[in-house]
Amino acid sequence: MNSEQFRAAGAKMVDYAIEYMETINKREPLPHVVPGWLAKVMPPQAPVKGEPFENIFNDFEKVVMEGTTHWMHPQFASYFPAGNTWPSILGAILSNAVGVNGTTWESCPAVTELEMIMADWVGKMMGIPKFFWTVFSNPETEGGGCIQTSASDAILLGMISAREDCVRSLRIKYPNVPRAVLLNRMVAYRSSQCHSSVERAGLIGYMRVRPLPADELGNVRARTLREAIKEDMKNSLIPYLYVAVLGSTGTCAFDDLMEIGPVCQDFGMWLHVDSAYAGSCYACPEMRYLSKGMEYAWSLNTNMNKWMLTNFDLSFLWLRYREKLAGPMTGYDDTRIHTPYWPIIELKYFGTPATRRFRALKMWFVLRNYGISGMQKYHRNHILQSKVFERYVERDERFEVVGPTRVGLCCFRLRGTNDINNKLLEAINASRRLHMVPSYFHEKFVIRYAPVYQFLTEEDVATSWRITDEFATAMIHQYIRDGTDAALLKPLFDLQAYYDEQHKAHPDEQWDREETAAETFVTSHEHEKIVDFFAMSAKDGSYGDAGDDEDKTYDGYLKSHPEALRREEIRGQPKVTDKVPSMLRMEIREKAAKK
Ligand SMILES: Cc1ncc(COP(=O)(O)O)c(C=O)c1O
Repeated sequence: MNSEQFRAAGAKMVDYAIEYMETINKREPLPHVVPGWLAKVMPPQAPVKGEPFENIFNDFEKVVMEGTTHWMHPQFASYFPAGNTWPSILGAILSNAVGVNGTTWESCPAVTELEMIMADWVGKMMGIPKFFWTVFSNPETEGGGCIQTSASDAILLGMISAREDCVRSLRIKYPNVPRAVLLNRMVAYRSSQCHSSVERAGLIGYMRVRPLPADELGNVRARTLREAIKEDMKNSLIPYLYVAVLGSTGTCAFDDLMEIGPVCQDFGMWLHVDSAYAGSCYACPEMRYLSKGMEYAWSLNTNMNKWMLTNFDLSFLWLRYREKLAGPMTGYDDTRIHTPYWPIIELKYFGTPATRRFRALKMWFVLRNYGISGMQKYHRNHILQSKVFERYVERDERFEVVGPTRVGLCCFRLRGTNDINNKLLEAINASRRLHMVPSYFHEKFVIRYAPVYQFLTEEDVATSWRITDEFATAMIHQYIRDGTDAALLKPLFDLQAYYDEQHKAHPDEQWDREETAAETFVTSHEHEKIVDFFAMSAKDGSYGDAGDDEDKTYDGYLKSHPEALRREEIRGQPKVTDKVPSMLRMEIREKAAKK
């Protein structure tokens, strides 16, 4: 391919990308292929003679897109968001075009320095403590951030840094004890709600990681951690690390760092905070109540390629002491840690690969194009829409919400067995009209509604709910017909019968499903936390670190965020439709009493 052919093909690709995004609604979120389909239609080996790009591109649509899942589809509500925006795509194009490898500073000064600066830009936007900033922003710092491929990599590196920090201090104390013996004595802890990458990092890094049970909200309590530590110490183990999760994968549970942090501090333990998904929304000051206690952390990771409008791959790892990562990576060779450019870092000591792509470029494009306010608008919309979905669930008595919907994920289930919930999700996914994935919370099968689409609207949410409702109704009817788990599911069957009667009597009325964003409001629990946050940050002046000049009070916040004001105004007012569920509850109770 020569440059003229590249120009023509490139223009075609851009047109294709635009057309794809603009017509994505016409596709179904999931493809219809079966496992092994591709090998059947692909030649068994690469062509001997090169082919014109036209042919390759035709096969892309015919063959590859046939088996492609449309993550950017409004009815794709699985996993966590996958960021993707035009400026991010443009950043990726230019990063590939210049084709540099970042390793030492000289290998490409722009790769190193833009990465450090972006770590500061994002960190400040998220309001993380100043000890995580690089020397460009905080001359006092010993910390800083760097880019990793994924949260799993960042978690592994954070944990390895903690492990080596502990081994190092133990070797000073016990110089004659072999390293393997020390490793065998050391113990790390994690929440049972943590992502599997924590367990995997333990396996890769020869780290004993003890899972701790979470409470009914998904938090590990300080008492649980303290008791585990004491028990292990009695058995001559050496606790050195707790991996906290802020925004767990299963149900978006948040460890309370204000509780856990002091315990880690008391026992001289490293606190790693995994906020792979939810960390992004700390860009909105009103969400930072969820990250309170971050000042206890020694390392922190957040993916930009989840909820920060940046495409895969790009995750930040911030360290309180950058040498604790670079040290082990250089074999504690001072000449390599302290290069002539120190404190400018040598990226090759901040990850497992020796070289890296110019990923910071994507971040720079995205942040400049959206600005902090654009990012906040995006997060606030996703948070609001997930709340809208939650209200649909709450209004339908056949369902229950599992855990509070605080960020962009709503977890819910039918009030019934795991089996009926599993079958419901299977049926929805098999229809390919909506895609969601499950998780388990305290042994309960839970369905996760986690929208991905950047411009999600209330209509998109309503469509997702309608599909869920339609399949739930069909599934319950099927269970009633078959008599499956009739004793266990009796309350659910009764509710369904009641709903069926209502629909027969009022076929045109959506009396039980009517919902608008205007009716969505912050719960009083969240409200208290937000008020607390503003009271605290107004006192210490911390709100505004990201450079915004908003009034530092809750009232000021409401003034500058009309949508929050709207929610605030309706907070506490009786909702018209409230009477329906309570009537329903009374009727069901009466029915049950009669039987
Ligand atoms: C809380 C949390 N941690 C870690 C991960 C792993 O992320 P990655 O795929 O970037 O390794 C995930 C993935 O969803 C996650 O939700």
